[in-house]
Amino acid sequence: MLFYFDIWRPACITKKGFLIQHPMRILRRFIRFLLLFVVFLLARLLYPLLYQLFIPAGSVHADRQTLMIAHRGASGVAPENTLAAFARALDQGADMLELDIHLSRDGIPVVIHDATLERTTNGHGRVVEYDLAALKQLDAGSWFAKEYAGERIPTLDEVLTLVNGRAPVIIEFKWDKEEGYYPQMATKVATIIRAHQASDWCWVQSFEQRYLDEMYRLLPEVPLVKCFIGVWSGPLGFYYDTGFHWGNYRPDAQIYRPAAHLTGLNFYYRTLTRSQIANWHQAGLQVWSYTVNDSKNMNKQVNLGADGIITNYPDANY
Ligand code: G3P
Ligand code: CA
Repeated sequence: MLFYFDIWRPACITKKGFLIQHPMRILRRFIRFLLLFVVFLLARLLYPLLYQLFIPAGSVHADRQTLMIAHRGASGVAPENTLAAFARALDQGADMLELDIHLSRDGIPVVIHDATLERTTNGHGRVVEYDLAALKQLDAGSWFAKEYAGERIPTLDEVLTLVNGRAPVIIEFKWDKEEGYYPQMATKVATIIRAHQASDWCWVQSFEQRYLDEMYRLLPEVPLVKCFIGVWSGPLGFYYDTGFHWGNYRPDAQIYRPAAHLTGLNFYYRTLTRSQIANWHQAGLQVWSYTVNDSKNMNKQVNLGADGIITNYPDANY
């Protein structure tokens, strides 16, 4: 051994006379640094949540401009992502309708939130394992209430036929956990939007950036919205969309076109603060918040400056 350590001393001298730090001391410093870093991250993460807890809900002015967006249709009162839910949302006067799509095995965009069938139908397995004809056999209503027995998984085509321009439709592109994103999704959806001549009342949103890039290439006139769990900008910034990323989210660096052409951003509501919304507004982007189902939190989101609220109760009186 060229040197020795004395555990009780802060530093040691090698046999050649060099002063070095004791490894335990270095370890202790590292652990201290790590703890501080974790505390810093937690504080950044929790700040919006605590901020929202302590701001007053206030009241909302009668001439509020905030859009009430029906999350999976009027999914508080009808089975989500079914024709019944979209019809109810239209009846309730929702400002916009939101829906989720996957691809069937034969490549048809179908309206369902999960990549698997168990939660909202009487089927089993993954959506992508079944042709449309088989998916159409499933009951997508009974799990919600008996009166909806026989409700089917609709295709995107069927929903656009039902809505027929009466309200803007936000089409959220999903992905299958095992296969990842669907490479054909954007092309299929662009074809359907064109067939319905619905470019001026269809929007596309996704947590997956590649879908937005592809949609811009195929149908640049359709407004695009990027979804996040949250974005924590600033020094040592980070954000969470399909996964966790270090760095500050830069809309203009991520898409083929400048930030002004990405119409909006959509966040889990508890991650938003007033200044964050103001910053995105300054960048020319709308800010939506999801999914807000009680009037107290709706008021808070409106007063923070959100432009749209994604809710299961688009007729809520807040
Ligand atoms: O609008 C965004 C929101 O719909 C995203 O969450 O899981 O309900 O699709 P999810
Ligand atoms: Ca959705």
